[in-house]
Amino acid sequence: MAAAGLAPRSARASNGLVEVLLDEPIGTVAPELHGHFTEHIGEVVYNGIWVGEDSKIPNVGGIRKALVDHMRQLCVPVIRWPGGCFADSYNWRDGIGPHTQRPVRTNFWDNVPSLCKAPDGPQKYDPNTFGTAEFMRFCQLCGAQPYVAANVRSLTPHDFDEWVEYCNSPAGSTTLAQTRAADGSRDPYNVLYWGIGNESWGCGGDFRPEEYAVVFRRFTSWVPDFGLKLRFIGSGPGADMRDPQVSWTRGFLENLVAKSPRLLERLYGLSMHYYCWTTGSGNSLGYTPDEWYQMLWQANVMDSLIPQHWQAMADYDEQHKVKLLVDEWGAWHRTTPLGPSYLFSYVPSLRDALVSALTLDVFNRHAEKLAMCNDAQLVNNINTLFLAMEDRFVATTIFHVFDMYKSHQGGRSLRLVCEAPSISVGPNGVRSSVEGEGKSLWGLAGSASLHRKTLVVTVVNPHASEPRAAEVSLCGGEAKSAQVTVLTAPDIHAHNDFDHPDTVVPKTEPASVSGSRFSWTFKPASVTKLEIELA
Ligand code: AHR
Repeated sequence: MAAAGLAPRSARASNGLVEVLLDEPIGTVAPELHGHFTEHIGEVVYNGIWVGEDSKIPNVGGIRKALVDHMRQLCVPVIRWPGGCFADSYNWRDGIGPHTQRPVRTNFWDNVPSLCKAPDGPQKYDPNTFGTAEFMRFCQLCGAQPYVAANVRSLTPHDFDEWVEYCNSPAGSTTLAQTRAADGSRDPYNVLYWGIGNESWGCGGDFRPEEYAVVFRRFTSWVPDFGLKLRFIGSGPGADMRDPQVSWTRGFLENLVAKSPRLLERLYGLSMHYYCWTTGSGNSLGYTPDEWYQMLWQANVMDSLIPQHWQAMADYDEQHKVKLLVDEWGAWHRTTPLGPSYLFSYVPSLRDALVSALTLDVFNRHAEKLAMCNDAQLVNNINTLFLAMEDRFVATTIFHVFDMYKSHQGGRSLRLVCEAPSISVGPNGVRSSVEGEGKSLWGLAGSASLHRKTLVVTVVNPHASEPRAAEVSLCGGEAKSAQVTVLTAPDIHAHNDFDHPDTVVPKTEPASVSGSRFSWTFKPASVTKLEIELA
């Protein structure tokens, strides 16, 4: 087979450099950086995940089989549920017991009439068929850890304690353990990750940071732990371009440690949310090259938000015992719904693949700061990996990025330096202040991780039309053999949908590289993964 991407050595005219510093480890790439998020919103849970035991759609105990199969392929470490904003309206007791006896409740999102246009059905009136037991089964089928977000806006700490008891009390030990057994699991679920609310500065209660510090203390005091070290996650900032909300991070931590610095021990991590938004007049599939760059530029803001919050956290936690999570992230486009009940859904394109790839690279480069990250959301929603409609199911461009990047999981993140002519991010947007306009974007960026003798290097070439020739330099190592996987398409608008599921799929081939320096040409608008066996 012909060696891919290899430029002749004479092509020294390359104007890019990708330098991997094998002696400069950053930290371990926690598999949890590849986590996902599922909310009772639009068609995520009902239809996306849950199709019902009696459905003609292939399912495993009511859970869509195609989804489970794809999730297993991805080695998904952790899944967050039940929200999102929904979490702070959810009473977990509604989702236990026999399906026929569960109450039907108005979904949180139906209270946002400007957004929610769902006709009558489970997206509007939640039948609670998918509750704790069903979520846990979904996690078990996927081989993922559950991460459960508690309701701190409209339930009490006592309700939270009892949810923990329902999930984690030993078999046969408590009344709630018996209820759990009747729901299908005699054994405890041993849930470790508990989110203490969601966006508590907004839909999760409109708290001020000092108020939320009190809420956090109350909800995490004397929670029954059943011998586990529970990992409580504080609701952190909702960073956006205009306001990274460092004041929330500071205000919360300041008020927490003011009571006692010891309380930091209860805080496993602080979660941040960051979305990048459609610019211009387009949507997920209609955009100009300028809007392509604007979106990538916005996604790259994650690279500065993480250290910004990390530094603020250091003022209250010098040792950095508390890690950062990014438990919602992704590109949020104007919705192009597949139907009125598909709130926030759109068909992701190649642009979204690059957004996701560069974001996962950012996470790797900050591996020592991050405990978990969760793409929002798994199916039929923002930054979605899958689209599902009745018996139709398709893996989007974003799925393929996660599939490529799973080889980073558990590796040692290494410092990687890229140089390439930067790209100016032009105007052309119609929003009053188009993010990324008038700025410049790097010409190449990526990340690297080491797994014994295997070096994984991922690189994004954001240029919409030009390849980028580069010298790849392995400082402190030599390549023996390699294979390359590339995700791209001739058209920057390319995407997968139900009728065209394989328009954008990665291609893997051997790459004949050797030594500590070699040339490589990165295709336009591409995500490249080099898996290099070191000598
Ligand atoms: O992911 C959709 C919503 O975005 C979530 O419910 C909320 O947490 C965020 O604002």
